[in-house]
Amino acid sequence: MAVPDSTRRDLEAGIETDFRRQMSYGDYLCLDQLLSAQRPQSDPPQHDELLFIVQHQTSELWLKLMVHELRSARALLAADDLAPALKRLARVKHIQHTLTDQWSVLATMTPSEYAEIRPFLATSSGFQSAQYREVEFLLGNKDADMVPVHAHDPAARDVLARLLGEPSLYDEFLRHLARTGYAVPADLVERDWSVKHRAHDGLVDLFATVYAAPEEHWGVYETCEELVDLEDNFQEWRFRHLQVVQRTIGHKSGTGGSSGVAFLRRALDLTFFPELYEVRTRIGG
Ligand code: HEM
Repeated sequence: MAVPDSTRRDLEAGIETDFRRQMSYGDYLCLDQLLSAQRPQSDPPQHDELLFIVQHQTSELWLKLMVHELRSARALLAADDLAPALKRLARVKHIQHTLTDQWSVLATMTPSEYAEIRPFLATSSGFQSAQYREVEFLLGNKDADMVPVHAHDPAARDVLARLLGEPSLYDEFLRHLARTGYAVPADLVERDWSVKHRAHDGLVDLFATVYAAPEEHWGVYETCEELVDLEDNFQEWRFRHLQVVQRTIGHKSGTGGSSGVAFLRRALDLTFFPELYEVRTRIGG
């Protein structure tokens, strides 16, 4: 019996091979644009700059999808459509895992390798990522000071200015709860949305009743836990970023002008959903 040839795979007759007059993979994905958008600045060229650029660009692509999913989840909550909103959040959680896992690729760049490209980054920094700020605003970490950072890019500035004045995902969740009969404090249902949500005792009381009898409030209980997952994942990303920054630049200041690690460490104390953490202290007496 002839031994099968495992060194070759023949094309099948039906496989498309001529794209002179029909849409190809590259056409659909605009790969000519996407793959020509890596423009290293270093002179002489530094091997590791491509890694640095690709890591940031892939992060921005995933952030784009995250914004899309979070906006949709927020709209679904506003329409009291809880189940599809949870489906969106499940996808967001996977994106977050991917973003966090990919830090290990950048961590292969040593401080000496980064030092070679650092001068060519000039004043650019992830701190100026408009999409990252969009995600933060959508989750509720509103900060009006972040809007003028984007004055050089009016489209991005306008997106952030609009989001600042709109309810966050958490705000819409609370409004959904109020509409479905839960005793959400009135000052959380209508308020100035541009101000960051502050921990509210009345809301902790409400969540305490939910966590005391999950089976009676399953949809709410499940959504609360999904939100905690989101915050957990967000903090993991922040922490991995901090670790990579620390191993790469030590305690030097950042290209964006901050103190670096010390500044980033303070972000670990920021919380999106304070009552969902506060309620944990109350559970079980
Ligand atoms: C070795 C690589 C990196 C270093 C040394 C670094 C360093 C820093 C530093 C020092 C800051 C504080 C602002 C400043 O002074 O610049 C910062 C902020 C930030 N970086 Fe990075 N970073 C790196 C990679 C990345 C990557 C791959 C991303 C992905 C998008 C990213 C996203 C951000 C974001 C979103 C902020 C703002 C965080 C906040 O406001 O809390 N960074 N980075």
